[in-house]
Amino acid sequence: MRVVLFGPPGAGKGTQARRLSRRLGIPHLSTGDMLRDHVRRRTALGQRAADLIDAGQLVPDALITAVVRGRLRHPDTAGGYVLDGFPRSAFQVTALDTMLAETGTALTAVLDLVVDEEEVVRRIGGRQICSRDNGHIFHLHSAPAAVRGLCDHCGGELYQRADDTPATVRDRLAVHRASTAPLTAHYAGTGLLRTVDATGTTEEVTARILQTLGLPGVLDTAVAQGS
Ligand code: AP5
Ligand code: MG
Repeated sequence: MRVVLFGPPGAGKGTQARRLSRRLGIPHLSTGDMLRDHVRRRTALGQRAADLIDAGQLVPDALITAVVRGRLRHPDTAGGYVLDGFPRSAFQVTALDTMLAETGTALTAVLDLVVDEEEVVRRIGGRQICSRDNGHIFHLHSAPAAVRGLCDHCGGELYQRADDTPATVRDRLAVHRASTAPLTAHYAGTGLLRTVDATGTTEEVTARILQTLGLPGVLDTAVAQGS
């Protein structure tokens, strides 16, 4: 299963991608996490990307496309993946189509997580992420860590992303509206687009996604196993 998650910043793409990845046994590929990892390791790419990320702007298409191309070559993607944060521009849509054609694969679905901007601001305002193992996401109110400030999974310190300030969130929403939201028309045209109501609890949203993917049984199994 090859699924792309679309939606504005704060819609819950990372949260849902992580849950889907666990339940479906396929990797979660987040371009935001990949870029933040480069920034943390001070690679050449990280140094080029850091200021753009902090300003809420997209990093250059060629840079991020090379990162995704490399990641999709990894054998762990053979059984599918959840792609979170890519494509985000018309260039990236074409690049992804090329990568899929090169590997003789196709997307299963593009899920557009729909939530209004007021809720996005609320969600991002309380978000905390793990400094150690990228990908673990918490929220001060809706998904608090058991021990305040520390990751439930690895004990790493939680922090607020530098691009989660109210001003940068406004800029990221504007970039999303201008560059990324219009791409849904392309995927609607290919018949891959599925719109998912992303309001309500994370569990409710996961249930809607699995229903949309025609996999409601996966949720039943996960609940039975307590995951
Ligand atoms: P990226 O990291 O992808 O950020 P984003 O798209 O702005 O999305 P977010 O990570 O902010 O939100 P999310 O939808 O993942 O929400 P989350 O699950 O965390 O990109 C960062 C930057 O990298 C970009 O601005 C750009 O500079 C660069 N970049 C990345 N990809 C690029 C590309 N392809 N091209 C060019 N540049 C690129 O949830 C948010 C909060 O809400 C959390 O606290 C969570 O706990 C909470 N929450 C989640 N679901 C619920 C719920 N149902 N109810 C209540 N709270 C909830
Ligand atoms: Mg995210």
